[in-house]
Amino acid sequence: MTADDSLEQAREIAVGVAREAGRILLEGWGTRPAIGFKSEDIDIVTEFDKRSEALIVERLAAAFPDDRIVAEEGTTHGEAGRARRVWYVDPLDGTTNFAHGMPLFSVSLGMAIDRRAVLGVVEAPALGWSFAGTTSGGSTFNGKPIAPSQTDQLVRALLVTGFPYVVRTRMDEIVGLFAAFVREARAVRRLGSAAIDLCWVAAGRMDGFWEADLKPWDMAGGALIVAEAGGRVTDLAGGPFTSRGGHVLATNGHLHEAMLEVVRTFKSPQTRTF
Ligand code: IPD
Ligand code: CA
Ligand code: CA
Repeated sequence: MTADDSLEQAREIAVGVAREAGRILLEGWGTRPAIGFKSEDIDIVTEFDKRSEALIVERLAAAFPDDRIVAEEGTTHGEAGRARRVWYVDPLDGTTNFAHGMPLFSVSLGMAIDRRAVLGVVEAPALGWSFAGTTSGGSTFNGKPIAPSQTDQLVRALLVTGFPYVVRTRMDEIVGLFAAFVREARAVRRLGSAAIDLCWVAAGRMDGFWEADLKPWDMAGGALIVAEAGGRVTDLAGGPFTSRGGHVLATNGHLHEAMLEVVRTFKSPQTRTF
């Protein structure tokens, strides 16, 4: 079997696992499930995050016993630093939407080989949206190839972002940059699932996405899907993107320099951490 075949096989398995996890999430969606609190009082978790995670890690570990798996709610498989292949698992991206009965939430899986992202799967079960991408086979939405938009002026662009859970302690920086983009773009949305935001850039519905302070599981799957659809992904300074780097700018490519320029113009040495 070639490396490409084995990647396509992994994609098929990952899509099946994400779909199965999505069915668990649908059991809880709309029920206003009980919530627990994590790092901040706005950072919440439900039993469905945990049940989804348990299923995903069990399935991936059974299919790929030699791989390392790192999941948001703390489950891991394999030893850090040993395996060539590492999976990042967000069992429920958009927990706040989910807990309030809103449909924009997803399961996000990303896999890297020797630290190079090669596979992404983002499944939004309440919407019937399934995104996937590999370095060998490009990116798809519900099985059909996707590509980013052709928009090349910010004034014609629909942008999307998110506010990390530290927003209240970094309000000036995060909301200030939001305002800077509102000033330049046609419109800016804040939808609540970074993985879905990235996939909409990949599919050409949104023209650009940025966010600071994300975790690897928020971005690993979606960023790969943007890149393999033909978009551009960097950090917020225009440097190489890594899912462990925290910050992301993902665009259709045409708007990338203009968006970096907005970030550069906004940044002030007093507040900047990206
Ligand atoms: C969050 C979502 C949200 C983003 C936050 C993330 P979670 O993930 O992706 O859109 O703005 O920064 O933490 O907690 O729902 O998995
Ligand atoms: Ca997340
Ligand atoms: Ca999550």
